[in-house]
This record gives sequence, C-alpha cells and structure tokens, in this order.
Amino acid sequence: MPHTTLAEKFRTMDYGAAPEDPAQALAWLDQFKGRFGHFIGGAWTAPAEGRYFETCDPSTGEKIAAIAQGSGSDVDAAVKAARAALPRWQSLTPHARARFLYALARQVQKHSRRLSVLETIDNGKPIRESRDIDIPLVARHFYYHAGWPQLLEQEFPGYQACGVVGQIIPWNFPLLMLAWKIAPALAAANTVVLKPAEFTPLTALAFAELCNEVGLPPGVVNIVTGDGSTGEALVVHPDVDKIAFTGSTEVGRAIRRATADSHKKLSLELGGKSPFVVFEDADLDSAVEGLVDGIWLNQGQVCCAGSRLLMQESIAVPITKKLQARMAALRVGSPLDKTTDIGAIVARVQLERIEALVAQGVADGASCWQPDVPIPSRGLYYRPTLFTNVHPTSVVAQQEIFGPVLAAMTFRTPAEAVELANNTAYGLAASVWSESVNVALQVSARIKAGVVWVNSTNMFDAACGFGGYRESGFGREGGREGMREYLQPTWFRKAPLLRRGAAQGRDPTRVSAPAIDRTVKLYIGGKQVRPDSGYSIECRSRKGVLLGEVPLGNRKDIRNAVEAARRAEQWSSAGAHSRAQVLYYLAENLSQRGKEVVARLAAVVGKRQASEELRLSVERLFTYAGWADKYEGVVHSPPFRNIAVAMNEALGTAGVICPEEAPLLGFLSMVLPLVVAGNCVIAVPSAAYPLIAGDLYQVFETSDVPGGVINMVTGRPAELMKVLADHDDVDTLWCYGDEELCAAAKRLSAGNLKQVWTNEGRRIDFFHERYGAGRWYLDHACQVKNIWVPYGE
Ligand code: NAI
Repeated sequence: MPHTTLAEKFRTMDYGAAPEDPAQALAWLDQFKGRFGHFIGGAWTAPAEGRYFETCDPSTGEKIAAIAQGSGSDVDAAVKAARAALPRWQSLTPHARARFLYALARQVQKHSRRLSVLETIDNGKPIRESRDIDIPLVARHFYYHAGWPQLLEQEFPGYQACGVVGQIIPWNFPLLMLAWKIAPALAAANTVVLKPAEFTPLTALAFAELCNEVGLPPGVVNIVTGDGSTGEALVVHPDVDKIAFTGSTEVGRAIRRATADSHKKLSLELGGKSPFVVFEDADLDSAVEGLVDGIWLNQGQVCCAGSRLLMQESIAVPITKKLQARMAALRVGSPLDKTTDIGAIVARVQLERIEALVAQGVADGASCWQPDVPIPSRGLYYRPTLFTNVHPTSVVAQQEIFGPVLAAMTFRTPAEAVELANNTAYGLAASVWSESVNVALQVSARIKAGVVWVNSTNMFDAACGFGGYRESGFGREGGREGMREYLQPTWFRKAPLLRRGAAQGRDPTRVSAPAIDRTVKLYIGGKQVRPDSGYSIECRSRKGVLLGEVPLGNRKDIRNAVEAARRAEQWSSAGAHSRAQVLYYLAENLSQRGKEVVARLAAVVGKRQASEELRLSVERLFTYAGWADKYEGVVHSPPFRNIAVAMNEALGTAGVICPEEAPLLGFLSMVLPLVVAGNCVIAVPSAAYPLIAGDLYQVFETSDVPGGVINMVTGRPAELMKVLADHDDVDTLWCYGDEELCAAAKRLSAGNLKQVWTNEGRRIDFFHERYGAGRWYLDHACQVKNIWVPYGE
C-alpha cells in the first residue's frame, strides 16, 4: 500500500472503504440453510412441485439462496389460508388489529439493520438508501396504518374490507412496496397473499418471520414466491377479491384484462417517465442535487424517477455543466459500502434492457455522455448517463428506461414546458424548480401527474397518497385514498345482480302515446346534430307503441363528441361555485319543464316512477350542487419541512353508459358527479328510453351548461361502449349494465388503462339517495394530485 501523507489526503479527498458488515444478515440466511419455502398459514411450506430458483447478489453474481417457485396449487393453498383466516381477523376488535400493525412497525425498526442489508444484497441498492430511506419508510407506513383500524367506523361508515387480497410487487423497493400493500390491507381488515418479485424475495420472507414474531394470526399474511406465472395464478384465482399490482405497464394491462370478467377490485401502480422541469430562475445547485436524487436514486430503477430533464433554454449550458461535474463525482461501486452513490443493477436482463435503450438513443441521434468514473470489474454496474439533444419523440424521451439514464431537453416558455412535460403516455410524478411561486404552482397544476414536487423530489410519506394519472395506473397508495382501495361499500357488495340483457324498468303502465313524429338529435358541443349514419332507431313503450325515434350514433359521432368534450376542458378550471350555479339553474329549469318530461317518460316507466324520477332528479341536482364546493382536497403535513396539498382533480373526458331502468334519474346520477368534479362527459342515454336526450338537451341549453361539457350520443349502448372504451382520448368510462357489459367495459379499456367504474352487473337503487349519490361516486370521478411545497424552515 503506497504511503499517503495527510496533505495528499486533503488534496484528493478520497473516501476510504466503509463497508457495512453483512454478518448478521448472513447468519439469518444460514438459519434457513439457504433455502426458503412459501409462507402459508403462518408456516414455512415447501413448494408443491418441488421447484426452486436462485436469488443472487447483483453486485457479485453470487447466489444468496434458493427460493420456492410458486405453482397454481401453492397459490391456491395460500388463498385458502387467507380465506380461512378472514373471519377470525375480522372478529378482532379494531384496537387489536391496530396493535398488530403497531407491533409490525416496531419489529421492522428492531430489525432494521438486518432488513437493510438483506435488501441491499438482494437488490443491489446502496446501503445508504436501504438504511436511510427504504426501511424507515417501511416502519412509518406500518405506524401510520396502525392508526386506521380504530378510525374506520367513523371515517368510512358503511364500508367493509374487500376480503382476500392478492398483491404483486416489483423488485425496485421490495420491502417498501410490501409495506405499501400489506399495511393498508390489514388496517382495513383484509387478509393477504403477496407475491414478491423473483429478483428480490428476501425481505418479504424476512417480513413473514416478523409476522410470526408478533403473533399475527396464521393466514392473515401469506407470501408465495415465484415468477410472473405465480403472479398470474394469483390474478386469476377465483377466490381473490382484490388485486393490487405494482410493476410494468405491460403487465398492468394484462392484469386489467385478466380481471375484467370477475368482480375483483383492482389498483395498478405502473411505470412513469417523469419530467424534471428547471426554470431559469431556479436555484441551479439545488436543482442539480435534486436531479442526483431524482434519477440516480436506486440506479434510476424508480417508477417516479425524474428521467426527463426539461431545462429552460437560457440555463441549458450552465446546468448541463454543473450536472456533468456532479455526475463525475458520483461513486459507483459496492452497494454495501456506505460511501457508494450508485450500486448494482438488479439483474442482467435489466442491465441489457438499459444498454439496448441507450444504444437506441444514440442511434436516434441524441448525444450520450458518461463520466469517466471507475466501475467494479465484477457485477452488474452501469455508469450514470446523460443524453442531450434529445428529440421529444425519441425512445429515450418516451420509454421508461428504469436505469441511471437522464434524457435532457430544452423549452422556452412555461407553456412549452407543460406541453413537453405532458408529452408522454404516463403521468406518475413531476418535479418543478423555480423560485417564483407563481410559475411553480401554475405549472404544477397543469402537469398531468399524481405527484408534483416543487423545488424538491422523491418525497414520500404514508399519509400522502401516491399513484398515477393516465398509463401510470389508477388507485393510490398511502393516505385516505390508499385506504379506499381496500374497502368497499357494504350495500354495493350485497346489491343483487341485474338480469342478463334485461331492461330493468319499474312496473310499466300503459299511457296514451305522444305523436310519433317526435325525433330527437344527438347533442354534441352544445348543438343538436344529425348522426353520421343518417339512421334512426325506434323508441317504443313497453307495450310496443311507437314513441319516437332517436339517431343511431356511431364511431364518428363518438369521435366528434370526444373532440367537443376536449375543447370544453376549461370546465375543470371553472370555480366550484360556478359549477354549482349551473347545477342549480338546471334544477330550476328541469323542474319548470317537469310536467311534460314526466308525461313522456311515463310511457316507458309508468306515471308513478316518472314523477318520482323527476322529483329525485331535481333533488339530485341540488345534492351535487351542494357537493361542488364541499368535496375538497386536504393539506397533509408530512414529517418534513413541506406541505403536501392533495387536490381532487378531474379525470378529463368521461364516457358514460347510462342505466336503462331510470332514464332520467339514472342519467343524472351518473353524469352529475362527473360533471361537478370538472369532467366533460359523453353520455349514452338509457336504451329503454333514449328520447330522454331530447328533454335533457332542452334543459341544458337553457341552463348555461357550456357547450361540450355534456354530450349525448344515442344508439346501441354495447356498441358505443366499445368505441368509448377503445378511444385513447377518453380518460374514464362509467358503464352501467349487466355483468357481461361491465366485464367488456373493463377488458376493452385496457388499451390506455383508462379508469373504469361499473355497477359490476349489480342493480343500484338510484331512487335511494344513500345508494344513488354521494362521496363514493365523487371518489371515482376524481383523481388525487399531491403537490409537495417547501413550507417553513
Ligand atoms: P414486471 O411488471 O414484469 O414485474 C413486476 C411483478 O409482476 C413481479 O413480481 C413479476 O413476477 C410479476 N409479474 C410478471 N408478469 C406477471 C403476470 N402476467 N401476472 C401477474 N404478475 C406478473 O416488471 P419487470 O419485468 O421486472 O421489469 C420490466 C420493466 O418494467 C422495467 O424495466 C421497468 O420499466 C418496469 N417496472 C416498473 C416498475 C414500477 O414500479 N413502476 C417496477 C418494476 C418494473
């Protein structure tokens, strides 16, 4: 070893090696003799088919342990154990469940060193991260959720657990993703079967042991290891009530399709290509530090990584220079070394994926720069990489690379920054840097993402929901929204199924028919328009009397309606008061036209129901006008010098297939929550009485409903539903119908992963305010965006 003087040390400021001692974690592995079974019903269980696979240390390539490969029968055994454990788990007092969650948090803290080391050797992430970020957040997640069981009755009255929950997690934050899944599931009194990722199963198995240590009743948590096929078996298992998935968008899409025919509740946390926007007035040094965290945390294998740097043109040169200088100082090396910034890539296949995408970026003409930092000769390492001169459509600007690769682009104005930021199919996160509060907040509001960090990045807390817009998935983890994912209204679960294909009218009575020349039009962009097809369909009373004709809407009409809805988007920024005023005005005008509306509607649903529908429709308009300025977000106070403002934002353009059975009240019950939440709607009115469209547009026209906010296309609901489901500019689909129609709506919406709400083929009694209106609908009409803002000192 060459002799170095103190003066030389000061000159180079080199770090010495500071390895974490893995002895304790290795000793724990030895207890299992390097081989793990599944954790089912509280006991270690050998895989039914006797197959194992290896999990390796990506920093050395060495084998760590043999892991059971789960088969369909292993999954079945785990689901049975979870089902069997459910009654006992639910019969505990909320306080007892809270105590278990609290005990798990404590146990995680007690074993934090071992868990950090296991995470690092299995995943390759720097010990500094697993020790200071992953594991503390795991404990925080269990503490936070230990608070929920005793609050459920007051905070979620009328809700119950989903039941048995299947959870599938990825390899980038193995124990943290487990905590994000298991803590809320248990807090809501579900039981769980969790499948960790095949590259990183160790901490889930260590967690299983903690469950036994705290005396969690057997079967409440089950861990089945294996690859994608094990995950698939869990997804399709008929006795699972909900699936929660985090992973790639591609698999998310497959799961959406695979669960469509069931009543399984679904939440998906998928990929991202998040923008990191730096304005010229930003504190550039802080922004560069933010970037280090944003894209090089966990080797960039982070779903919300700030992988697209959008820099204002005037500062592109200085920020690039600062960034390159900082990149050259990043230490790539042994993950167990406490001075390492960038550890190993999780697996060879992932490294190859990164290499291929980078090669594609170069082929696309972007300039690729890597610092000349040393990397270990053994193990799966990749240098921090910066792409400049990136075209917004190139692969490195569009595809999730999931590696330490940053793609930089420039913009001139805030409007251009927003446009570039939103130029992606994803919408998970964004980071916005500006010293101007106006610019930062205005841009944050316009970026389509579930989380926006102002002058900060990668902040997480259990109290703040996390999840995506658009193809980044749906559902939230953390916070109140996260709890919602594991609960369902009790009445809804018990609601009877509709008869297949049946119109569900109430006791029709024969009344005298109106003149048959009554023909309504489509209503698009605030105008009555003729259908593209030029065809009409007849609308008859139950007794077969011809009541009138409605246009047979087709693909083109839907397309026009979607365009009109898009053009009316500013509705989402109309103030809540203005939206309420429109609804009150609608109520007034509907009530004035009440007599004629009832007289016509009665031909199909009978006089009694028609009058009742009108009375309740006026009431419902008042209900949602009332909600307009009361369904609000919250301000979280996470344990940092930040506030996180949780905004309820509109989903965008909504397709609605209205119920047959209550042509007026059903229409309004589905359309109003969406409209009041700021969405624009394309509604397909009741197939039993589509003529209601004519009555409705007359009311809309006289009530200041801006053109394009509510569009109506009459026709065959099943056909129009398909067009809406297929349309990439439709952000959410609400479909009321029999089981078959609902399943098709979910399946066909997988393309752009639009959020789907259905009645699951069940009958909803819209005549009852408790079932037909309220928060549950509004929850589905919005998505929560958390904007993190530095606050206080
Ligand atoms: P993946 O989506 O295939 O794996 C995630 C989890 O899903 C694993 O537990 C896997 O076993 C399971 N799985 C795979 N196929 C399944 C199926 N058909 N049904 C049910 N479960 C299934 O992700 P992978 O292949 O590990 O990574 C590929 C790419 O996905 C990455 O390069 C990255 O772009 C993205 N990704 C995104 C993540 C995120 O947090 N958003 C996490 C992991 C990967």
